[in-house]
Order: sequence, then structure tokens, then C-alpha cells
Amino acid sequence: MKGKVYLVGAGPGDPELLTLKALRLIRTADAVLHDDLITEQILALIPSYAEVRNVGKRCGQKNITQDEINALLVQYALMGMQVVRLKSGDPLIFGRAGEEIEALREANIEFEIVPGVTAALGAAAAAQIPLTHRRVSSSLTFVTGQHAAEQGSDDSLSGIHPESTLVIYMPGQDYSGIVDRLLRAGLKSTTPCALISQATSSEQRIHRTTLEQLPGSPPLPAPCLLVVGEVVGLSVPEAAEAPFPEFFGVQAETSQVSPVHEGAE
Ligand SMILES: C[S@@+](CC[C@H](N)C(=O)[O-])C[C@H]1O[C@@H](n2cnc3c(N)ncnc32)[C@H](O)[C@@H]1O
Repeated sequence: MKGKVYLVGAGPGDPELLTLKALRLIRTADAVLHDDLITEQILALIPSYAEVRNVGKRCGQKNITQDEINALLVQYALMGMQVVRLKSGDPLIFGRAGEEIEALREANIEFEIVPGVTAALGAAAAAQIPLTHRRVSSSLTFVTGQHAAEQGSDDSLSGIHPESTLVIYMPGQDYSGIVDRLLRAGLKSTTPCALISQATSSEQRIHRTTLEQLPGSPPLPAPCLLVVGEVVGLSVPEAAEAPFPEFFGVQAETSQVSPVHEGAE
């Protein structure tokens, strides 16, 4: 009997931001294939009998290709396992879920997508930035800095509306390139922006600045994202600099959980 694959969003890091469904699936998985950004506290929720593989391309298996990840998902499902493909944030945002979905459809494997709190939302909450505001910003755009660089094009930023809030995932370190492109798109050099690093973790750091001063910002540890827009100026720095509330709720609890499919390692 074939198993099933769940593309599960793990949220931005704090385990208390997992959905109840994600938590249940993680605790009952036969196999978990996860990205680099999944925190230790979330990995600790995986039962000890489950097959666990870090398929992240930075710290995990540096040379693993997307095709190999797709093949593993299919292979585990064909062995009858309940497979959790655990991705940071939401699986459908900058997570290459599209390619995995295609592979699963092609192999006729049943799958389900479980949304998660995307990094932009975790970071905005942590920094107390209202991403939209009735008087300031009525639209919100997510872009990736990396994709534009890979394509050798800056199109992703050229259509940005100056009154929109912009969240740039994977902004890299070349902030001057981003600033040039945003100024060309019509944003003012005084537009407030914030770099938010390791949002929702105890290591979280927030650096508030303006577009003109962004290139002089200190490098912050990955993962990091950039929020740009007048809404950033509405957040109260002192309140938002407080450490992210500690995680008290979810504990690694494997003893009462049995595998869904007998025989899975
Ligand atoms: C490959 S994308 C995956 C995005 C993910 N699917 C999501 O919905 O958040 C990874 C990028 O997300 C951002 N990111 C993820 N977790 C973050 C966090 N806790 N704090 C800040 N940025 C984060 C960073 O820009 C990082 O380089």
C-alpha cells in the first residue's frame, strides 16, 4: 500500500508557531525530510523511530539536487510511509514546493499541503510592524532577492508601488543593489526599512534604518529578511527589541505515539 506525503510548513522557528496539524504530523511521521532552517526544538518533536534526513542545501546534503529530493519523497511513499516534507515558513512560499508537487502527481502519490506561518509574518509580528495600515499601506508584496540575482534581472522590484509594503526574502548582503532598484522604482530614500534576523528565535535581531542608510547596516546572521515601507516607521523600537517570548508549550513527546504504518523504520 502506498503511503502519503505531507508538505508541511514549520513556521519561522518558534515551535509554538507550528499549527496543530503540523505538530500531529511531525509526531506521527515515519520519515521526515527537512530543510536547513528547521530549528532544533522542532526537530526534537520527531519520533525517534522515524527516518530523518536533512535535505537542506547549505548544512545538510550540499550536493543534493531537487530531483533527488523529489525521488526520495516518491520512494518513501512507495514503501508505504507517512512522509513529512518539512519546510521552513510556509511550503508554498519560496520553497520549491511546485517541483515536488509535480513529481508527486507524476508518480501518482497522494499528498497534502499544510500551511505554515511564513517568515514575513513571523518577522513582522516579532518587530511589531503592521504590514498593512489603513492610512499608510494597503498592499503587500513578497519578493526574493536571490531569484532576481539568479535571473540576472531586477524586474522583481521595478513594479513595486511606492506605497506598498515590501518584504524581501533572501536579501543577500548587497543592499546597495536593492536600494538602487527601489529608488528607481520611485521609493523615497527616507523610506523606513528593517532587517530582521532569526525572527521568532531567542537570537532574533532587528536593525531599523532607512533606504539611504541601508548599505551601511551591520551584517546580520542568516536567515534574515528585509521589510521596506512606511509601516516600518510605525513600529515602536523599544517594545519590539524585547526578546522574543520564550517557548514553553510544546515538548518532545514520542512515547505515546506509534507509527502509522507498521514496519517503517
Ligand atoms: C528559501 S526561503 C524559504 C521561505 C519559507 N518558505 C517561508 O515561507 O518563510 C528562506 C528565506 O526565508 C527567510 N527566513 C526564513 N526564516 C526566517 C527567520 N526566522 N527570520 C528571518 N528570515 C527568515 C530568509 O530570507 C531566508 O533566506
